[in-house]
Amino acid sequence: ATTEGELENTVITCRAAVAWEPNKPMVMEEIQVAPPQAEEVRIKIVASAVCHTDLYHLFERMHKDGFPVVLGHEAAGVVESVGPGVTEFQPGDHVIPLFVSQCRECRFCKNPKTNQSERYDVMAATESRFTCRGKKVLQFMGTSTFSEYTVMNQVSVAKIDPTAPLDKVCLLGCGVCTGFGAAVNTAQVEPGSTCAVFGLGAVGLAAVMGCQFAGAKKIFAVDVNPEKFEKAKVFGATDFLNPKDYDRPISAVLAELTAGGVDFSLECVGNVEVMCSGVQCEGLGGQCAGRMDDVATRPIVLIAGRTWKGSLFGGFKSKDGVPKMVQAYLDKKVKLDEFITHNMSLEQINEAFEVMKQGKCIRTVISVSPQ
Ligand SMILES: NC(=O)c1ccc[n+]([C@@H]2O[C@H](COP(=O)([O-])OP(=O)(O)OC[C@H]3O[C@@H](n4cnc5c(N)ncnc54)[C@H](O)[C@@H]3O)[C@@H](O)[C@H]2O)c1
Ligand SMILES: *[C@@H]1O[C@H](CO)[C@@H](O)[C@H](O)[C@H]1NC(C)=O
Ligand SMILES: [Zn+2]
Ligand SMILES: [Zn+2]
Repeated sequence: ATTEGELENTVITCRAAVAWEPNKPMVMEEIQVAPPQAEEVRIKIVASAVCHTDLYHLFERMHKDGFPVVLGHEAAGVVESVGPGVTEFQPGDHVIPLFVSQCRECRFCKNPKTNQSERYDVMAATESRFTCRGKKVLQFMGTSTFSEYTVMNQVSVAKIDPTAPLDKVCLLGCGVCTGFGAAVNTAQVEPGSTCAVFGLGAVGLAAVMGCQFAGAKKIFAVDVNPEKFEKAKVFGATDFLNPKDYDRPISAVLAELTAGGVDFSLECVGNVEVMCSGVQCEGLGGQCAGRMDDVATRPIVLIAGRTWKGSLFGGFKSKDGVPKMVQAYLDKKVKLDEFITHNMSLEQINEAFEVMKQGKCIRTVISVSPQ
């Protein structure tokens, strides 16, 4: 307790991967991380995985307003210090940063139908506790976990079991909760049902795992990269389809194979065309990821009774859901280790992005600081 007062007032200089501009490699820099202000927590990041949304910001969306920035949002770490008024956290607590906040007090947090909070924008786009070479550097999704230290509001931090390995449970900061929750919470996949999952990255594989967890009897795994099928089997997929093997739409192929359509389809690519083909191949239910382009379908597709849902962070109320998923991993009810295909250092961050771009990894875990 004696050092806490000092820590609160100390600026930390540490290493971070800074993305100075779109479509350029990130650069290892020394950055300054301000002390946590009221309600804030400063976290030492131990491990951070790379999610496709990080690539999207750097190589696909490429909006110059979003730079310079420190990317990374799928991580785990240890609380280093806390700002005034923080009672829920103490230095040494093991935590997962949350890009979806849960304040527990607003109208949305009190509504079981949504996992968004009115305080969604804490530490988002314009605010940041980072500077580098005298310039403000943004905190991507409020989290910025490709940095040895970051600062988050306490409404965006989940305290987890200290026995959980941080280099594994970091995956629960985004991809695995997103896919698993899309199946279990958003689609509410039913026992005995037939499902289709489009896109077999970590999000899609976690959706496959969610479908199996929910008791689906048939799970079609769909990807244009057939190298992903072997992993999909590990997570419970029963049938495998590569749209490139067919000269007609994959929705038609699925409708044929299932005598009229699947019960649930989950789009885990982030591709608008795939979303549309997903809803068209359904006998009933459905949904997942999202992008800037408009989505369209013929009204009859929905009039027929299908539903088309979006899912942010798998519909989990973040502060409640993440510690439960950590427990589910410790109880061996959900897999995490099987998603990790590469381990790398923070210096290798550009290489980690490259292997994802080339479709050669599921998840790369970056070790950011020693624990
Ligand atoms: N809604 C959310 O809360 C949320 C959270 C995390 C990620 N995402 C999004 O989910 C998507 C997947 O993320 P990821 O980290 O698993 O990515 P990833 O790049 O690891 O996986 C994407 C997979 O889709 C496959 N694919 C590409 N085009 C396809 C097509 N036309 N048909 C079938 N498969 C195709 C690729 O081969 C790859 O295996 C991304 O768009 C990401 O931005 C959304
Ligand atoms: C990554 O490192 C962990 C130890 O932290 C190890 O258990 C795992 O096998 C490694 N995975 C790969 C693919 O290298
Ligand atoms: Zn993500
Ligand atoms: Zn709230």
